[in-house]
Amino acid sequence: NEMIAIAIDGPAAAGKSTVAKIVAEKLSCVYIDTGAMYRAVTLKAINKQVDLQNEGQLVRLLANTTIKLKQSAAGQLVLLDTEDVTEAIRSQEVTNNVSYVAMHPEIRREMVARQQALAAHTSVVMDGRDIGTHVLPQAEVKIFLIASVEERAKRRYEENKRKGYKVDLEELKKEIEQRDLIDSQREAAPLIKAENAIEIDTTSLSISEVAEKILFEVYKIM
Ligand code: C5P
Repeated sequence: NEMIAIAIDGPAAAGKSTVAKIVAEKLSCVYIDTGAMYRAVTLKAINKQVDLQNEGQLVRLLANTTIKLKQSAAGQLVLLDTEDVTEAIRSQEVTNNVSYVAMHPEIRREMVARQQALAAHTSVVMDGRDIGTHVLPQAEVKIFLIASVEERAKRRYEENKRKGYKVDLEELKKEIEQRDLIDSQREAAPLIKAENAIEIDTTSLSISEVAEKILFEVYKIM
């Protein structure tokens, strides 16, 4: 009955959430999508016309914001002050702005505290950019997922197509590259592989192959 924490980090659209959900399900852990939390506060800031460069204003906004990740039969729901924003946080506008919100050290400090609280009393699979390095530095298993930008853009393109959105492949590629650049170059907890993380290149792997590799690492230490 020991608790376990699994950290899954990596660049945008590397398949983190898809495999994290599968791994969490297999291990009966709680899945926590930390990107959804940054997206939720970004959506609220945009709606309230808060200047995304203004860290103080964003911090006050976040202090008055609740973000809940709720498991439902239909998958994970994201609740922003009780409003269901599961779909809304995936918009192009939120996607293209979230990295500017996530740059601010005081925003990150608050998010990390909330994320650590979520993992304090339960086994978790958590995905994001700084989970292995800052949120759960003691995680028993740390995974760093990578894939070529072409492959990541292609996957996002197919996903969008299935959902009925039409987004240009080249546009997606640019958006992903831009987000990775900002996330990797920021001062506060940049996207970086933790020293003891296991890197998995998913470019030519299927979702179940990636999940299997992660589960293999987990079983090794259990
Ligand atoms: O994982 P997802 O692509 O939804 O994350 C959206 C954005 O949130 C990232 O591009 C990054 O700017 C930010 N983020 C972060 N730290 C995390 C998770 C996400 O900075 N742990």
